[in-house]
Amino acid sequence: MQLKSKDVLGLLALSKEEIELILNTANEMKKILVQGVKRVPHLLNKSVFTLFYENSTRTRSSFEIAGKYLSACFTNLPVSISSVQKGESLIDTGKTLDALQANVMVIRHQAAGAPNLLADNVKARVINAGDGMNEHPTQALLDIFTLREKFGHIEGLKVAIVGDIKHSRVARSNVWGLTKLGAQVNFAAPATLIPPEFERTGAKVCYNADEAIKGVNAIMALRMQLERENGMVASVREYHKYYGIDRKRLSGAAKGAILMHPGPINRGVELSSEMADSLESVIEEQVLNGVAIRMALLFLLTRGGKR
Ligand code: CP
Repeated sequence: MQLKSKDVLGLLALSKEEIELILNTANEMKKILVQGVKRVPHLLNKSVFTLFYENSTRTRSSFEIAGKYLSACFTNLPVSISSVQKGESLIDTGKTLDALQANVMVIRHQAAGAPNLLADNVKARVINAGDGMNEHPTQALLDIFTLREKFGHIEGLKVAIVGDIKHSRVARSNVWGLTKLGAQVNFAAPATLIPPEFERTGAKVCYNADEAIKGVNAIMALRMQLERENGMVASVREYHKYYGIDRKRLSGAAKGAILMHPGPINRGVELSSEMADSLESVIEEQVLNGVAIRMALLFLLTRGGKR
């Protein structure tokens, strides 16, 4: 089986079967990773470029390491010192990388839809590494992979996504992916941080975190986007009191529940510092699984077909 689309732009557009193909391929990639093998030939003679118009630690570095482990010719285009700063458009930048024989372009952009625009105008495969408040498909795939690794299945799991849903591309990609695979998703946030459209995603919308968390198998705390919140919560301290995950709040979840966070964490805001480092936390496993997922996507998009 192959991915149907030329590009991976979001989980809304992927079928259940395509998501399962990516998860199964990531499982094979994880076996390579845990053996400590740091060079396999899957992407020999393929070139991968990353274009990050927004900051990143995890996503950018895990794409780089994934590409290098698979033997790709890997280039990170440093947007802040590139010709983008001289006014070069996204399409012209993409065409330039096409001319440099790019097989895959990985893009993060502050504007929702920028990866789609790039994908429509280049020959290379395009992977969305986060676009505005729209989607962050590779993050959701690594989250779902981590859940499947922990519980052996996604069907029937209950997952609470707690925090700044409004601004979160992670919440959007996760709800599309998790519900396609048969999980139940509960959202919890103050009313100012859940737009009405989330009622239509198939998830249950709660304004009380304890109600959303009751009996769930996993809690996914979202980063409070302090750069964007501006007046949407009364105070960070009050937010932590009502929505922050601490030991007491976690105790309302099912036995064996895990705690997830896409990172970067604001300790003491969305999670107590104790919980970030607790036995229930799988945050560091999520980071490693991010490499396996990105290896899988690079492999699936480049195997067989022409550039
Ligand atoms: N989770 C995530 O996207 O982290 P970065 O912004 O560090 O890539």
